[in-house]
Amino acid sequence: MIQTANRIASVEEYYFSRKLAEVRGLDTPELRVINLGIGSPDQAPSSNAIEALITSAKNPANHGYQNYKGIPALRKGIADLYKNIYDTQLDPESMILPLMGSKEGIMHICMAFVNEGEEVLIPNPGYPTYSSVANLVGAKLRTYDLKEELNWGVDIEALKKSDLSKVKLMWVNFPHMPTGRTASRAELKELVDLARKHQFLIVNDNPYSMILNDVPMSILSIEGAEDIALELNSLSKSHNMAGWRIGWIAGKKEYIDAVLKVKSNMDSGMFLGLQHAAVEALKNGKEWFTSLNKMYANRKKAAKQLLDLLGCSYAENQSGLFVWAKAPDTIKDIEKWIDEILYGTKVFITPGFIFGEAGRRYIRISLCCTVEMLQEALDRIQKFTASKQLNQSKTVTA
Ligand SMILES: Cc1ncc(COP(=O)(O)O)c(C=O)c1O
Repeated sequence: MIQTANRIASVEEYYFSRKLAEVRGLDTPELRVINLGIGSPDQAPSSNAIEALITSAKNPANHGYQNYKGIPALRKGIADLYKNIYDTQLDPESMILPLMGSKEGIMHICMAFVNEGEEVLIPNPGYPTYSSVANLVGAKLRTYDLKEELNWGVDIEALKKSDLSKVKLMWVNFPHMPTGRTASRAELKELVDLARKHQFLIVNDNPYSMILNDVPMSILSIEGAEDIALELNSLSKSHNMAGWRIGWIAGKKEYIDAVLKVKSNMDSGMFLGLQHAAVEALKNGKEWFTSLNKMYANRKKAAKQLLDLLGCSYAENQSGLFVWAKAPDTIKDIEKWIDEILYGTKVFITPGFIFGEAGRRYIRISLCCTVEMLQEALDRIQKFTASKQLNQSKTVTA
């Protein structure tokens, strides 16, 4: 046996990589699994994007290695999106770097900026990849709590009082996954000011800004952000292209160049057909987002009915692809409860502990399945709960 590298002792296989294999194992033609776990949009991208991919793939000249920085039309499309959606001006030549998804960008950024032992601030609860990658590069993890009492906002006063001298990088993610919390411009400004004062890099991971959110915002639009901030973004959620792996990083030229140094040693560019498709998808206008958000708003109503049945409580105005909800106090072990529902009904719901200790009493329901499926999930859980109660009362009577 060859010994694995020490660094992988610091991480575990991604929760969904393990759990979804288990969930898939329960799927049978008689009773399909209803997966309310993962935020992978179930609808197709716009037809112009699909057509562009097909046309491009038919051209024999389009199958070679590509430029590491992506084609100019893609960078221009992303710059246009920043102007139209976030009212933010970016130079497409120097301030945008297309990536194969934004998740990969988390590793690129840590490789480019974080030395062993330097501190990385990570939201709790938060996307688990921030901490896994920080561990992989040998950084010192420092979580900051998002507090339910602050409606899941950052306790900025607590951060200000703490020693930030060794912090190299802070991850923020607004609209936040899993809580659905958005940040106001003033809150983002306070965070940017803190990063400037203590000279650390602040990165906003922004893939949910266009989903159920009236005021999409980029951290790069905040005054003073240009010298200390970067942003990750992608077409995964907003354009139904999660499996296509199209994302980007945006910010100051020198920072983009540093990330390119890492990235150009790790991949050999994005397939041209995908880039052509992305250029088309980026042309989607108001009607696309209106119809997408109408669909998610309807699903959210059905998801809330399911949560009501489960006795959960939740904030009304959550952005993004999920509903984050607190489990009832009567449930002692959330993971066990989730598994009981999974094995009793074949409905999979994400337990909140995977997003950090602050998520321990919570669950997350994805809006990436139809209203009919959410209603079917509700129906199954209702029947399961009723039969459990019946069995319990039989036991008591016996
Ligand atoms: C907070 C957050 N960031 C980043 C990602 C990665 O998205 P992608 O790599 O598809 O752009 C996800 C995906 O679920 C996410 O929830």
